Amino acid sequence: MAFRCKDVELLAHTLICSLVVLLCISQSYATSTDIYCLKTVRQSLKDPNGYLSSWDFNNNTEGFICKFTGVECWHPDENRVLNIHLSDMGLEGEFPHGIENCTSLTGLDLSSNKLSGPIPSDISKRLEFVTSLDLSTNRFSGEIPSSLANCTYLNILKLDNNQLKGNIPLQLGELNRIKTFSVSNNLLTGPVPTFHNDNVTADDYANNPGLCGKPLKSCPGIKKKSQSGIIAAAAAGGVTFTAIIVGLVLYYFKPRALKRKKEDDPEGNKWAKSIKGTKGIKASILVTFLAH
Ligand SMILES: *[C@@H]1O[C@H](CO)[C@@H](O)[C@H](O)[C@H]1NC(C)=O
Ligand SMILES: *[C@@H]1O[C@H](CO)[C@@H](O)[C@H](O)[C@H]1NC(C)=O
Ligand SMILES: *[C@@H]1O[C@H](CO)[C@@H](O)[C@H](O)[C@H]1NC(C)=O
Ligand SMILES: *[C@@H]1O[C@H](CO)[C@@H](O)[C@H](O)[C@H]1NC(C)=O
Repeated sequence: MAFRCKDVELLAHTLICSLVVLLCISQSYATSTDIYCLKTVRQSLKDPNGYLSSWDFNNNTEGFICKFTGVECWHPDENRVLNIHLSDMGLEGEFPHGIENCTSLTGLDLSSNKLSGPIPSDISKRLEFVTSLDLSTNRFSGEIPSSLANCTYLNILKLDNNQLKGNIPLQLGELNRIKTFSVSNNLLTGPVPTFHNDNVTADDYANNPGLCGKPLKSCPGIKKKSQSGIIAAAAAGGVTFTAIIVGLVLYYFKPRALKRKKEDDPEGNKWAKSIKGTKGIKASILVTFLAH
């Protein structure tokens, strides 16, 4: 299905693919998995403030999960989850792995809680069609998984205000729909990815111990030096190479070029003469014609 969508995307407009994705999602999944999904999500989250008390799985009427706090369905009378917003509820625990069974999910907001542990390394399998992922202001630790680069529909990715460390996977720059990306206030180091649009600003990277590269300061050290070294060497090499080529060209082709010029001139004269000739003929024809 993802392949079909990718093909369509190559051929047609982004909007068309989005529509196809929605159709793919809406046609191919049973809804019982979504109930199971929310059950496991509920089980894996500690909810000391009781915000999730409305998550009662005993009432099995169609669409009952759509009334749960923070759950938005595709249709209010169908148990198929579109978005989950569980922001600022004091939730504790790890990233809810069971989310993978909400197979039609397009948005997940777990921001401003006390969630901890790593972001699952296989997150792209769990959130294949997600367009918005907000895990900001939690206690997530470990590295940012490079598999996020496979969540190709992501528009919004917010990971700021956590305890994420290590490098930002440069593959994230392949997310060509990204409009919002923030990783400020973490423990990240190294070069930042290059995104297709310029909307990611220095603020989105602020308060990390060692990030570099556009829009921040360029990365220091070996890489840059060797790059400028290569450029200088290439420039010097280029100059001598060009000089040699010019020399060779001059040596081999100058006589011929001169010869050609000499040949060209008579030819040009011939041509000019032949024009004059035809003109002359035409004129004489005209004269004889008029004379009649
Ligand atoms: C089940 O949920 C539906 C929709 O929220 C509600 O109308 C109905 O009264 C509930 N039934 C029970 C037994 O709680
Ligand atoms: C998702 O659902 C399948 C089938 O019900 C189950 O085997 C699997 O363990 C679920 N995944 C998670 C992470 O709960
Ligand atoms: C993305 O998916 C492809 C194909 O499933 C896989 O080969 C690749 O390793 C994944 N990339 C990342 C960064 O996980
Ligand atoms: C970039 O940001 C500006 C202002 O915030 C907004 O108007 C514009 O649509 C954004 N562009 C993209 C490609 O997201």
